Amino acid sequence: MEKLRILAIETSCDETAVAIVENGKTLLSNIVSSQINVHSKFGGVVPEVASRIHVENITVVLQEALSNANLTMDDIDAIAITHGPGLVGSLHIGIQAAKALAWYYGKPLVPVHHIAGHIYANRFVEEIEYPLFALVVSGGHTELVYLKSEFSFEILGTTQDDAIGEAYDKVARVMGLPYPGGPAIDKLAKTGVKHYRLPKVKTENDLDFSFSGLKSAVLQFYAQKTKIKEEVVPSDLAYAFQEAALGEILQKSKIAIERFNAKHFVLAGGVAANSRLRELVVNLKDDYPHLKITIPPMWCCTDNAAMIAMAGTLAFTAGHRAGLDLSADPGLEL
Ligand code: KG4
Ligand code: ZN
Repeated sequence: MEKLRILAIETSCDETAVAIVENGKTLLSNIVSSQINVHSKFGGVVPEVASRIHVENITVVLQEALSNANLTMDDIDAIAITHGPGLVGSLHIGIQAAKALAWYYGKPLVPVHHIAGHIYANRFVEEIEYPLFALVVSGGHTELVYLKSEFSFEILGTTQDDAIGEAYDKVARVMGLPYPGGPAIDKLAKTGVKHYRLPKVKTENDLDFSFSGLKSAVLQFYAQKTKIKEEVVPSDLAYAFQEAALGEILQKSKIAIERFNAKHFVLAGGVAANSRLRELVVNLKDDYPHLKITIPPMWCCTDNAAMIAMAGTLAFTAGHRAGLDLSADPGLEL
């Protein structure tokens, strides 16, 4: 069989990433250059700084991806590129690089939605079956997505305010934990116990999410305790926040599973790296033994280009193409 090799570029936020996937299966290289140590000084991603670092890094990361796989551009069949959603300046750098390569080497350009990448990252574990539910949880998204077939995305529920990853990051910031806050709260919550009570989240649509109330409750709680000079047990607060946030996610997922017919349930996005959420999702198997459940590998949860190459392989095969007039779409819908 002819080999199909897709090279993907992902620069939607603060990771400069290039990966190569062969035949929608084998990962030949996966380079992620993270800017976390720069942005952590500011407590969050600074868009202008992110764009500038992408410019500095993109050619180095690209060369490393090719040399790690022992390939040249002649061995590549198509270039997959994240064209949204994300930070406009960051997306733009990856898109310009992808277009330059497509033009110079005469390769097809395949547009990929960032969230499609997160969802299809699960294909590194096992084949996707439809109808599919995807629970997308990241720094910019919190969505329950239903796919009747490949690339047919229907959003069943979404957040009415903050994304769950954003809530993790903000709560962590108030607690004086390093950016990004998700991994820090995850670690801290492991040693926490049930001690503090936080209010229950309320939403109008039973499949929608809301995290700003919970986030504010933690911030107020923290401010109040500090004012009266009462010490807060950080691990217990991390535990209370995490149980409330993940409880909300799980409850909505169960409503969707019971209401819609699906064969397969996948977890997707940066927050999929959360150890407690992974445990809760795997345990869904006890309640729904007929549902196939997949969680993405740890290395493929936070932003990377391997997931874009995987989704890009499917998109290439389905005939999706972009012209050299492709531009960044920061609010691109699924
Ligand atoms: O998918 P991603 O890398 O970027 C976006 O597309 O947004 O997700 C980043 C988010 C951040 O908010 C980060 O705090 C969160 O994922 N995250 C976690 C964990 N690891 C990363 N949240 C909770 N627990 C974790 N272990
Ligand atoms: Zn992401």
